[in-house]
Amino acid sequence: MNALATVRSAPGLDEFLDRLEDRLQDSVQSHPGLVGAIGSDTLSAGGKRLRPVLVFLCTPPGRRADERAVAGGTAVELVHMATLVHDDLLDGADLRRGRPTAWAEHGEDAAKAAGDYLFARAFAELAGTGDVHGVTVLAGAALALARGEALQRRQAFRPETTVDEYLARCSLKTGKLFEAACVIGAGRPELGAFGLALGIAFQIADDILDCTGDFDTTGKAPGVDLRDGTPTLPLILAAREDAGVRQALAGEPVAGALELVVATGAIVTARSFALEYAARARVALDGEPDRASLEALTHLVVDRDA
Ligand code: IPE
Ligand code: IPE
Ligand code: MG
Ligand code: MG
Repeated sequence: MNALATVRSAPGLDEFLDRLEDRLQDSVQSHPGLVGAIGSDTLSAGGKRLRPVLVFLCTPPGRRADERAVAGGTAVELVHMATLVHDDLLDGADLRRGRPTAWAEHGEDAAKAAGDYLFARAFAELAGTGDVHGVTVLAGAALALARGEALQRRQAFRPETTVDEYLARCSLKTGKLFEAACVIGAGRPELGAFGLALGIAFQIADDILDCTGDFDTTGKAPGVDLRDGTPTLPLILAAREDAGVRQALAGEPVAGALELVVATGAIVTARSFALEYAARARVALDGEPDRASLEALTHLVVDRDA
């Protein structure tokens, strides 16, 4: 059985995802108006719902049908959606999930407000369950996301950004929300290290897709990171080898810069980092009831084209 089939076959997952979708709809539509409409649009565009799947798989099997699991999954997905709405504004990205982004469609002020609204809805969902620990964990992840975006701003147009500085950014921007999904699901901190490493592997794979993916499969325009001067792992590694990439990452116009990146072999090396973090995630597993599904996820986050 392949990795995706292993995850999909987890008993109760389909029902969980159906309930999640209903809850997400209800949550974003709870306040009529422009921000609710933008939330609905973002939601209906789809997405992998990977973070709620993590909540589900980290929840002990006997508790996966509980209200708390659905609320936890809804909360982490809403935080994720909020950060995407703000991230696209910061990155100047005009396409996501195959559609125009919120700021491109409705303007910057509306996108800021819609992101704030989604954050607020996320915390309302989790607070409704009385899961104070979960709220604390999610608040920590939201703070990390903001710090990660701020760090990205400071690193912009700096080809000399080190791999460690890049990994610190991945941890804040992506790893911490994956960690939160696992901890909220499990109701205990032990699975956090798994989530953090998985999130870093996921972000490295995303940064590779920004170089090699295409709109039809990712739903996002490729090359946004290079255009924005965001020093991702493939770009940092390629800049060390190629003066053209270095100039492009520093903000100078260079024709065919993405081809130069590929020619350096940086994609292959970056992938080996992603595989290393996926392996670290597997090492962090320890006798979990649904280890096969969690392990399968560590393969899926790296070997994906969307
Ligand atoms: C995109 O996340 C943002 C990153 C952390 C790279 P996803 O790739 O999980 O986005 P959707 O929800 O599937 O659209
Ligand atoms: C991830 O970074 C965004 C957040 C974690 C907020 P990216 O900027 O690489 O994500 P995409 O490529 O826009 O989805
Ligand atoms: Mg972005
Ligand atoms: Mg990206």
